[in-house]
Amino acid sequence: ADALKIGIAGLGTVGAALAKILVERRDMLTTTCGRPIEIAAVTARSKGRDRGVDLSSVEWFDDPVALARDADIDVFVELMGGAGDPAYAAVKAALGRGVHVVTANKALLAAHGVELAGIAEKHGSLLNYEAAVAGGIPVIKALRESLTGNTISRVYGIMNGTCNYILTKMEKEGLSFEACLKEAQRLGYAEADPAFDIEGNDTAHKLSILTTLAFGTKIAADDIYLEGITNISIDDIRAAADLGYRIKLLGVAQKTDTGVEQRVHPTMVPLDSVIAQVDGVTNAVAIESDILGELLMVGPGAGGNATASAVLGDIADIAKSRPGAQTVPALGRPAAALAPYKRAQ
Ligand code: NDP
Ligand code: HSE
Repeated sequence: ADALKIGIAGLGTVGAALAKILVERRDMLTTTCGRPIEIAAVTARSKGRDRGVDLSSVEWFDDPVALARDADIDVFVELMGGAGDPAYAAVKAALGRGVHVVTANKALLAAHGVELAGIAEKHGSLLNYEAAVAGGIPVIKALRESLTGNTISRVYGIMNGTCNYILTKMEKEGLSFEACLKEAQRLGYAEADPAFDIEGNDTAHKLSILTTLAFGTKIAADDIYLEGITNISIDDIRAAADLGYRIKLLGVAQKTDTGVEQRVHPTMVPLDSVIAQVDGVTNAVAIESDILGELLMVGPGAGGNATASAVLGDIADIAKSRPGAQTVPALGRPAAALAPYKRAQ
């Protein structure tokens, strides 16, 4: 079958991890998706930098918008970041010519998501953004697909890996806020401008996306009550622990009699609650709905591989959905037969 040709804009923490996986797992992905996924074009700011993966035979573009507009691709994968150009112009250019877009860029979606979804709809292109919220946790899929038919009353959770990492390290290792932030940056968790993490904007961007999906409201990141973690000291964390609580930066969206309330702020959660046990870069998203009940999803919330995994899932969805594509690959025999399941008497 024809390869799915993708263009990757941004070869940093996430883009380089994605490119590496696509190259190293080409055969496996071909089997799973029913056709190869080929990196046809790439762009980043500096052409010469070693990305840890050989992309020498891939077409290079200096300008992300030119890549989105002119490259021979089926999918434009936007991993540069930023709510404005070039990400905004490039995504519009791709969607506007019927090229599908996969992005991890929550800042872009929080600012322009409604407009971009409209362009996608008009031109028959898909806009997939699983990695934009809670890293590798499939929360967008849960809201867009699995919970169809449910009425949702509340969505809340830990949605920023950097902040949770900082709060955890401060408590468990007694390190300073600044030292923990530096480490989160070194590990590739933080935004290019980490103020977005620690001041809560990144959580607000993610929450605004979840609110839209959960409650069918327009994205309204500016309507969110916002307080980050910059004022949290080790003394605050210890005082909370003495009272039986742990401090977590939560994003909360819930239905009220007057509309959907959205807020982001440090919250004291009881030490024996599940969410209090969510440590380090791990995120947790709870969704309360009427048919299913409470769903709690916990998993890696940031980092190259965790995020690339979600981006890859979005790309694979597009590869499999091509009309005529072989979506159920021929499977080999399982290595060991499973014993038949016996119902307990
Ligand atoms: P990085 O800063 O590591 O990488 C950004 C990449 O984009 C770099 O390769 C950079 O080029 C390139 N780039 C930036 N500006 C331009 C430009 N004007 N023209 C061309 N290329 C450009 O970011 P991340 O990989 O961490 O994040 C990428 C996106 O994924 C962001 O939207 C982020 O919010 C999101 N995200 C990140 C997660 C993470 O854990 N890191 C998790 C979930 C989402 P160069 O390398 O040459 O400087
Ligand atoms: N900077 C973000 C975080 C990346 O720390 O959660 C994942 O969206």
